[in-house]
Amino acid sequence: MLILGFESSCDETAVAIVKDGREVLANKIASQIEIHALYGGVVPEIASRAHTEAISGLTNEALEEAGVSLSDIDAIAVTNCPGLIGALLVGVNFAKSLAFKLDIPLIPVHHIRGHIAANYCHFDGKDGKEYLEPPFTSLVMSGGHTSLIGVNSYTDFEIIGATRDDAAGEAFDKVARLLSLPYPGGAKMDKLAYEGDKTFIEFPQASVKDSPYDFSFSGLKTAAINFIHKLEQNKTEYNKADIAASYTDAVVKAIAKRVELLFNDMDLFKSKKFVLAGGVSANSHIRQAITMLAEKYGVKLYIPPLSLCGDNAVMIASQGYYEYTEDNKKADTTLNAYATMGVDEV
Ligand code: KG4
Ligand code: ZN
Repeated sequence: MLILGFESSCDETAVAIVKDGREVLANKIASQIEIHALYGGVVPEIASRAHTEAISGLTNEALEEAGVSLSDIDAIAVTNCPGLIGALLVGVNFAKSLAFKLDIPLIPVHHIRGHIAANYCHFDGKDGKEYLEPPFTSLVMSGGHTSLIGVNSYTDFEIIGATRDDAAGEAFDKVARLLSLPYPGGAKMDKLAYEGDKTFIEFPQASVKDSPYDFSFSGLKTAAINFIHKLEQNKTEYNKADIAASYTDAVVKAIAKRVELLFNDMDLFKSKKFVLAGGVSANSHIRQAITMLAEKYGVKLYIPPLSLCGDNAVMIASQGYYEYTEDNKKADTTLNAYATMGVDEV
């Protein structure tokens, strides 16, 4: 089954063609980073306009890359939640029109479910790789989400813990911006942290009372912002890399603490399979810390390649395949987009 997938929830327009949920035939991404970098962050109105300009040409490029034509496509999958509403609507309307014209199923996909599904396309059982299938537990870390999710089946998701305030990506980006690193700062913080002293300052760790698996990064982020402001007000010279290293260390420890707790919780973590997902799972410090924990506890760890961590449409086509084949999920031309939506609510 050939699925044409669309993703436009934030600042990447993406179109992909995936066969039977796992085999990537085309993966096209038009990044808007250069446009938004001028403003230090995503400008929603500009994002919507850029999606509108890119989506049609990118679709033709994807068909060409896959060597297929529109008449070969069996279904269309599109991210319809969560994300920037104007941006989502561009993808939803384009996908809707195409599905209507071709008279093929239209499958709505939750963006975070998609991030998890990106792993199915890498861990496809080929070339000595594992074949990943549920049940497993996933740690999804992106610009807007940080959640521990029980993936009971391809379409049954259960939230174990989530952030109460900021997401890990947002927290990295905000501090990176204060350190004058160009947007999006997450990947630059990752590199800079290697050049600094992580013991330079110990940032506070927050825990959420009675919810050991929930995350909270806003206190940590504010502590870092105040610390940098104070240094600047006092005209104290400082090494940006020391802040990047100390801050990264605090984020890594906050994440590792929850992951270790989970690895010890055999009621919650029966599968002993742990899957990383989302843009922040590209962070090398987090990858290293979780790899060490997985080795210590004998957990099977699945880490997506860097190319499938950030936003893409392969992940949407893949999850779309499972939503359709497992749950017969389909939408009609009244399909809407939603800025917020729980991964377990759809
Ligand atoms: O999943 P994603 O591409 O988009 C959302 O769904 O939000 O995640 C984007 C986030 C941004 O905050 C970006 O700075 C962060 O992922 N990111 C990283 C790294 N690469 C991307 N954060 C930390 N370290 C990285 N290497
Ligand atoms: Zn994303």
